[in-house]
Amino acid sequence: MAQGKTSRRGKAADEAQAADGRARDAARGLRVRAVRQADLPQVIALDATVTGLHKSDYWQRVYRRYGVGGQGLRHFLVAVHGARVVGFVIGEVRDWEFGSPPCGWVFAIDVDPHARLAGIGTALLGAMRERFRQVGVTMLRTMLSRDNQLLLSFFRSQGLTAGHLIPLQIEIETGAAGA
Ligand SMILES: CC(C)(COP(=O)(O)OP(=O)(O)OC[C@H]1O[C@@H](n2cnc3c(N)ncnc32)[C@H](O)[C@@H]1OP(=O)(O)O)[C@@H](O)C(=O)NCCC(=O)NCCS
Repeated sequence: MAQGKTSRRGKAADEAQAADGRARDAARGLRVRAVRQADLPQVIALDATVTGLHKSDYWQRVYRRYGVGGQGLRHFLVAVHGARVVGFVIGEVRDWEFGSPPCGWVFAIDVDPHARLAGIGTALLGAMRERFRQVGVTMLRTMLSRDNQLLLSFFRSQGLTAGHLIPLQIEIETGAAGA
């Protein structure tokens, strides 16, 4: 679990950094924009390369909830080189959940394995951060598996550090109800 340092940064500095990032990305032909229905087959294929699972129904649901029904608080963004999708990020502003003031959660981020280490993950997270900032959110959070060293290195490089929330869980036995 980690949280961003957005609250410590000035608004002007954030805006300047976002503008610099967009200019750099435009110069190398990279664009981050809201997902479109036509992008979904590439998103599904990209997810399958990372997870090994081809989850069409799941991605249609994610698209309906975060792609077209976002209402400014839910975001499903893709990074594209021309028509080629090279990464995506999904996030949402949540109000007062887990007892916390409104904050922006990043649920998923993936970059095409052939396009990594070229700043695409940074561009995706930066675009999400900018959208959160535009609605007055000053904290970005995410959760990841403690075994995922790659994601941990990435988020650490983006300034995220361990937060004050801890995940708790319990295994629910199936078939136990009424027994
Ligand atoms: C993590 C991920 C999004 C990074 O994307 P990316 O486009 O390669 O990231 P960037 O090029 O913007 O890298 C930014 C920084 O992250 C860190 N980083 C990225 N890849 C790294 C690696 N393989 N090893 C160590 N640090 C790494 C570095 O500090 C890097 O900065 P540097 O290039 O100046 O050293 C990408 O590797 C990915 O999609 N991994 C799979 C994610 C996953 O498991 N998703 C499923 C659960 S949501």
